[in-house]
Formats: sequence, C-alpha cells, structure tokens
Amino acid sequence: MTPIQECIQNKNSKLNPIWIMRQAGRYLPEFREIRAKNPDFIKLCLNESLSSEITLQPIKRFDFDAAIIFSDILMLPYGLDQEVKFEKGLGPKLGELDLNRLESINGNEFSKKLNSVYKSISKTSVNPILNNKDLIGFVGAPWTILVYMINKMSPKNNLSKKIFKDKLFVKKLLVIIEKFLKIHIENQIKAGVSIIQIFDSWAGLLEENISEYIYEPTLNLVNYTKKLGVPVICFPRGIDNYKNFCDVIKPDMVNIDYNVDPKKAVKEIKIPIQGGLDPKVLLSDKENLHKEVIKYLQIFKDHPYVFNLGHGILPETKIEMVEELVKIVREFK
Ligand code: CP3
Repeated sequence: MTPIQECIQNKNSKLNPIWIMRQAGRYLPEFREIRAKNPDFIKLCLNESLSSEITLQPIKRFDFDAAIIFSDILMLPYGLDQEVKFEKGLGPKLGELDLNRLESINGNEFSKKLNSVYKSISKTSVNPILNNKDLIGFVGAPWTILVYMINKMSPKNNLSKKIFKDKLFVKKLLVIIEKFLKIHIENQIKAGVSIIQIFDSWAGLLEENISEYIYEPTLNLVNYTKKLGVPVICFPRGIDNYKNFCDVIKPDMVNIDYNVDPKKAVKEIKIPIQGGLDPKVLLSDKENLHKEVIKYLQIFKDHPYVFNLGHGILPETKIEMVEELVKIVREFK
C-alpha cells in the first residue's frame, strides 16, 4: 500500500507522506525550460509525452510520495468548447459562454477533446518511478469552475456580482458542469490515477447559498468518486467551517488552507488531514522553515496527516528550500 493510502485507511498510521500542491510548475527550472519552448499552455497540457515528463519532474527531484498530473482545472471549460487562453502575467482568460452550445455537447465529444490527458495518465501511471507512490488526478470543484466560466478570468481582483443575477442560468450551468466533471473523474480513474483531489479554490468567496453551490454539487462528486473505488481529497479553500464541511461531505481526506488554525483542526476534524503550511514560509529562511514545519508535524503527530501546503507553491520558491522541507518531514520521528 502507498504511504498516502495507508494514511487514509489506517487511523493509527504514523507515516507523514509528503507532496506539494502545484508541485509540477513554475518554480522548477526544468519546467520553465519546457514552458519557454511551448507558449500555448493548453497545447502543452495536451502534449502526452511532455505532460507526462512534467508530472514526473518533481518526483525525480524530491522523491515526493505522490505525483499530480500536469493539467489544469480549466481543461474542463476547454473540453466544453469555451475558449481558454493563458496570457503572460494575466492568468487565464476564457471566451464567450453559450449555454445552448454547452447543452448540445455529449460525453463522447468531451472525452475525445481531452483524450490526450487520459493517454498521458496511462503512460505516466505505469512508469516504475511511481512504484509505491500515488498518481493524483484532479478536478476543480463545480463552484470554482462556474466562477471561471462566468467571470472569464480569475476572480482575484473582481468577482462580478452579475454571477448571481440569473439564478436559472447558474443552476443550469452547475448541472452541466457536474455532469462533465463526473465524466472527467471517471476517465482519469480508468486511465490510472489512484486518488482524486477536488480543488475548490474560490470556496471562500461565497457568502450565501453555500449548500446549493458548494455542498450539494461537491457531495455528488465525492460520492461518485467513492463509488468508483478511489479515495477523494477535498480542498475547500477559505471555507468558513471546515469541520461542518467534513461532517457533511465526508471526503477521505481534507486539505486545510493556511488560514486554518491547525490546533483547532486537529481537535475538530475526525478524518485524515493534509496540508496547511503557508507557502510563503518557503520564501523565508531555513530556520523559520524548520520551526513552522515542526509545528505542523507536532500538532498532527497523533492524527493521520499528509504533509502539504495550505495553497499552491509560489513560483519564486527556491529549490533548496523544497529540499530542506522534504528532509525535515522525512527525518521527523
Ligand atoms: O499541481 C500541479 O503541479 C499540477 C498541475 C496543476 C496546474 N494547475 C498547472 C498550472 C494544478 C493542480 C492546477 C490547478 C489549478 N489551476 C487551480 C487550483 C489550485 C489553486 O491554485 O487554487 C486553479 C485555480 C487553476 C487555474 C489556473 N491555472 C490559474 C489561475 C493559472 C495562472 C496563475 C498560476 O497559478 O500560475 C493557471 C496556470 C497554470 N496551471 C500553470 C501551471 C503550471 C502556470 C502556467 C505558466 O507556466 O504560465
């Protein structure tokens, strides 16, 4: 059994496996080298051999306990024929959204458009370097995907209030998103991923209708994934009440964000926990890193815990800080 599966299944597990959200990305010189030659990000995600190579880059360097497939949560709108572009310094930009067109797309067309993602997973999952390691597949949660599809860019700076004006439209769109997320999850599992993580990066933006827009559709995906026999990790970033989220949704593991008090989490949350460390700690010095990492490891020493961050690793992170992090976690007794 892999260290992460052991942590999920055995309440008394003393292992502290480690992987890092967004581990396959811009802080790695070997990724930047490939990226410089491939200006079209979506095409790069659809390049079977390069996406497989990028997925394995952080494993080769740091020997993490899991690889996460090199792809993006926005491959879903791409698969639904909404244009998705990544412009330098601007982040993602999405094209027009046509509900009639979305309603006419069938599962086969969608799966065909993303076929390279699944082929890359099949190729990667049999690589001997992943022996006794998990290959993590992922999706964005329905709410976060909805935000990008309607807002057409990151809501970091402004989330248009227009999103909620036409409730019927939002409802219809959520149904479509959920349907295709299920297909995307199933395809990834069939291709060989051993865990699914659901990223709800913008869960914290929603102040009302949380049960309708976050809880219900997420619960549907979690139950669907469990039925397929694969563990599911949820990351409802910024959500007010992680305890309540875990009680209702019951994922196999929850990734806490860096604003969650780990002492409170360990007391309240009864399921395995992942993550928490503020990615900015990796931009400080080794002494501070040591102090912060040991703090998390101490707090979770009697709770099934997978070491990870409280959000994605920052592009300016130095390689030697990641090496140090892995060393601290592996040497902790
Ligand atoms: O974890 C990994 O290393 C695997 C690959 C992965 C990417 N995106 C590749 C990527 C994963 C798991 C994601 C998830 C993702 N994508 C999320 C959820 C996690 C989070 O950070 O909240 C979100 C919100 C996105 C959407 C997205 N993709 C944004 C906002 C951006 C631009 C800003 C950024 O973070 O870089 C991307 C681009 C992106 N996705 C890059 C990578 C490696 C950078 C592309 C580049 O090289 O320019």
